[in-house]
Amino acid sequence: MYQAAVVIHVISAITWLGGMLFLVMVMLPLARRDMASGQPGPGLEMLRDAANRFLPVAWASMILLAVTGAYRA
Ligand code: HEM
Repeated sequence: MYQAAVVIHVISAITWLGGMLFLVMVMLPLARRDMASGQPGPGLEMLRDAANRFLPVAWASMILLAVTGAYRA
């Protein structure tokens, strides 16, 4: 049970941080490129869609992190 909490804690941390880094390092530059070019492209809308899609994943990760973290503490 303790090992399961460790695994879930670490996978949740990777999921949350990885998702945030992907949004900031990949999707955000695409949106900024579209805004800078002056021609409206799909980047901004895709960033918004990706962020909305990631939101429940991020919440689930945070809740799992808090629960498994509290269990281990
Ligand atoms: C309510 C929130 C959290 C609680 C109560 C909590 C609690 C803990 C505890 C007790 C440990 C074990 C420390 C040790 O054995 O020395 C730990 C390790 C760790 N936590 Fe959290 N944590 C929380 C949130 C987070 C978040 C937000 C992240 C990163 C996104 C995170 C990532 C990690 C990592 C990478 C480890 C080290 C890996 C491991 O020892 O298994 N934790 N946490």
